[in-house]
Amino acid sequence: MSASWAGSGEDDREDGPPPAPPGAELAPGYAVVSHLRRGEDLDVYDVWSEERGCRCVAKTIRPDRVGHESATRRLVHEGELLLRLTHPHIVRAYDLIRGEALVLVLETLPGETLAHLIDRGEPRLAAAEVAHLGRHLCSAVGYLHRHGILHLDLKPSNIIATGGLARVLDLSLARPPGWVKPGIGTLGYMAPEQARGGEIGAAADVWGIGAVLYEVATGEPAWDADDLDDATDASLRTEDLVIPPAAPIRRHRRLPASLAEAIDASLALDPAGRPSVHDLDAALSRVV
Ligand SMILES: Nc1ncnc2c1ncn2[C@@H]1O[C@H](COP(=O)(O)OP(=O)(O)OP(=O)(O)O)[C@@H](O)[C@H]1O
Ligand SMILES: [Mg+2]
Repeated sequence: MSASWAGSGEDDREDGPPPAPPGAELAPGYAVVSHLRRGEDLDVYDVWSEERGCRCVAKTIRPDRVGHESATRRLVHEGELLLRLTHPHIVRAYDLIRGEALVLVLETLPGETLAHLIDRGEPRLAAAEVAHLGRHLCSAVGYLHRHGILHLDLKPSNIIATGGLARVLDLSLARPPGWVKPGIGTLGYMAPEQARGGEIGAAADVWGIGAVLYEVATGEPAWDADDLDDATDASLRTEDLVIPPAAPIRRHRRLPASLAEAIDASLALDPAGRPSVHDLDAALSRVV
């Protein structure tokens, strides 16, 4: 979500009333197994689906945010979008329940988020694995773009990977290309034109892919809070944020030139200077 600094884009909150306990029904036929995560507006649960006889993930509005128009609108929007998308690298939605509570039911993705992987300080992925991950992201993002949608929140906590398969989550900020207000996205991962607001297009997601690959390859985010002038200041107006060029990736890690160049090019400050998703994918396919 927008305007917060958190390692690898993960922002787990503990404020507000307690989440629903194990055994509670979020909606008929969906019993809580455990609470997974609390964000600004949403709680995410591991639930048991009576109908499917399996566990699923349920996203629902936090008890203290129920009735908040924007939170409801975003979850409905995400659910409706996911229900009409089917792609091997995008999480699948099973149902959007608009009963007493609003509940988006998703397939449970095995594996862990890239944010967890990075935070655990796992050995860095080999260059070929970074390129492979990037190609999955290009595939997912290219599909979204062909459906007239930008993701706009690509970051390690919104990607789950396991066994060489990456899946993109969290379409809560997704929208068609065009005009956006300043600061739609997550600081540290959003393109300069997203921070500034105005016309944005596919290049904003190319930046997001570049930022994820940079961090996964090096273990370091492309931008640190200290690099962004007053970024942590609550009074910050994101439209005034000056995003400096990221250090070339070779300063952190030696990588095959083709991979380093592809990642650096994706992080060009000028959207017109970034490769297209197609060209980025082609460049990543040449990494051995
Ligand atoms: N289908 C899923 N399978 C496994 N884990 C999931 C799934 N969906 C979400 N999660 C976990 O829940 C976290 C939050 O999910 P998501 O990013 O979709 O919510 P969000 O829109 O960011 O919510 P918030 O408003 O709290 O920021 C993810 O980072 C991941 O750890
Ligand atoms: Mg998220």
